[in-house]
Amino acid sequence: MLVLGIESSCDETAAAVVRDGREIFSSVISSQIKVHKRFGGVVPEIASREHLDKIVPVVEEALARAGVSARDVDGIAVTQGPGLVGSLLVGLSYAKAMAYALAKPLVGVNHIEGHIYSVVFENPPIEYPAFALVVSGGHTNLFLVPEPGRYKVLARTRDDAAGEAFDKVAKMLGLGYPGGPVIERLAREGDPRAVAFSVPRMGDGLPDFSFSGLKTAVSKYVRESGLQPVSAGEEPSRGVKDLAASFQSVVVRSLVGTTEKLAAQYRPRTLIVAGGVACNNALREAAAEAGARLAVPAYFPSRHLSTDNAAMIAAAGTVKLLAGERAGLDLNADVSLRLGNVDMDEDKARRGRARYKL
Ligand code: KG4
Ligand code: ZN
Repeated sequence: MLVLGIESSCDETAAAVVRDGREIFSSVISSQIKVHKRFGGVVPEIASREHLDKIVPVVEEALARAGVSARDVDGIAVTQGPGLVGSLLVGLSYAKAMAYALAKPLVGVNHIEGHIYSVVFENPPIEYPAFALVVSGGHTNLFLVPEPGRYKVLARTRDDAAGEAFDKVAKMLGLGYPGGPVIERLAREGDPRAVAFSVPRMGDGLPDFSFSGLKTAVSKYVRESGLQPVSAGEEPSRGVKDLAASFQSVVVRSLVGTTEKLAAQYRPRTLIVAGGVACNNALREAAAEAGARLAVPAYFPSRHLSTDNAAMIAAAGTVKLLAGERAGLDLNADVSLRLGNVDMDEDKARRGRARYKL
């Protein structure tokens, strides 16, 4: 089965052609990072306009690189939500028009479920029950996946997403946007024990994550220690590198510590770590070590599949198409689409605000 995937939920316009949900024929991603960079975060209105400019060439290029015509595909999978409404509508409208014009089956895919499927291309088949830790700029959720397509949230962030914390701390330190990659690079040269931040715990005893208190602790440390943020073109100081390493270390400990504790209770057979923050090598190493202690394989997507892409949407969509699922032309964007028992509403509302304000 040949599926065309289309993704436009945030600031990447992407299209991909995937065979049988596992083999990537093409994956084209047009990133808007440069356009949003000077605002320090994604500006929704600009994102929608960029998607409008890019959607046609991106889909055409994905088909051309795969060496197929739109008539050859067996179905179209498109991100339905969660995401920015104006951005989602561009991909959705295009996918619906294509499905109608070519009389192709159409399915809507949850973006977060797409991230989970990003590991299927380069790893052995997932054994269930699985754990899926999805960490990105907008989400931080640990799911129990008892079988394909069923999700239960075991832990979620109460405030900022992990990627958002990386972005905000980078901004405080004058390191620009997005923050994750630059913090990771500086952390390699810093001492993770230099500043003692503690892993946040919930007062109610639930295993949820929280990163906004940590962000405040970093800001307090910067203020009280007199640490100077990095100016453009300047080599970051030892203090900045140590702070980056200490911050990254506590985020990783929080994510992996909670995952490992819950894994001991639920005994998953696979550990999946996905989303933009899964690019982070410190997180990968810690999750792989936890997997080894639990005697379960840990799967990560490679870098180009960790951040937003359409191959993962096509893969998740293939499972739905094979199960006979079909969307009508009334398929609509859902900015707070749920996955399992989680209410993405709060996450997305926060993401829209937080990223705009960054
Ligand atoms: O999945 P993604 O591309 O978009 C969202 O759906 O949000 O994730 C982007 C997020 C950003 O917050 C970025 O700072 C973070 O992923 N990120 C990283 C790294 N690379 C990207 N965070 C930590 N370490 C990295 N190497
Ligand atoms: Zn994403």
